[in-house]
Amino acid sequence: MADLPFQEDTIVGALTQHPAVAAYVAEHAERGNPASVLDTIDRYAREEHWLMNIGPDKGPLVQELAGRLPAGARILELGAYCGYSAIMFASTFGEGVSVTSIEPDDAAVACCRQNAEMAGLADRIEFIHAPSTEALATLQADPFDLVFLDHWKDLYKQDLQLIESRGLLKPGSIVVADNVGDVFNPTEYLEYVRGCGRYDCEHREATIEYTDAPDAVEISVYRG
Ligand SMILES: C[S@@+](CC[C@H](N)C(=O)[O-])C[C@H]1O[C@@H](n2cnc3c(N)ncnc32)[C@H](O)[C@@H]1O
Repeated sequence: MADLPFQEDTIVGALTQHPAVAAYVAEHAERGNPASVLDTIDRYAREEHWLMNIGPDKGPLVQELAGRLPAGARILELGAYCGYSAIMFASTFGEGVSVTSIEPDDAAVACCRQNAEMAGLADRIEFIHAPSTEALATLQADPFDLVFLDHWKDLYKQDLQLIESRGLLKPGSIVVADNVGDVFNPTEYLEYVRGCGRYDCEHREATIEYTDAPDAVEISVYRG
């Protein structure tokens, strides 16, 4: 496993930033403007404390995914944090999109809901306040067009298998796993998704958000 580009404390500290991020967005972002909300969260991450958002460098990838999927796409996200990626998906995919985002942390969910409301996108995003395993078991077997895995990396494989068994994928559904580079290195997940025969996989080089440290994203198209 490669070295983290910052101290371990930085990650721990990032898990307590939610109230401060929500207050910063409320003070500095323009209400009803998703780009302004995202820019404001980026500014917080650079000037106040590092945050584990998808970050601005993966914006073009989200644009590309929007181009590959139909209008009115249904998106499932595991790991909402401050609501950054949910807002990015909901604004990039445009009207008709629905984002279901699962997050167990109380402060994170409060921050997400406030930021989505500030962005004017609360009607496109549902935040489910529960751990993934519990929430996935309650979802109806209605397939998603895009699944974004961005919670704890040791849960990626088991939760993807749960998503499959719950009927939440259809042929052509795209599963995107963030942070699969050498630093976080979810080997079990990569071996599974590449080796099980049900996905066409593509590995994309990227950087860890708000740093120059190398990372990667795995894009896997479900064959059925
Ligand atoms: C990397 S952050 C998500 C970042 C977010 N997707 C973004 O780009 O803006 C990881 C999040 O996963 C959440 N998490 C941890 N365990 C989880 C679980 N079992 N189910 C869903 N989310 C979980 C954490 O609380 C944290 O907020």
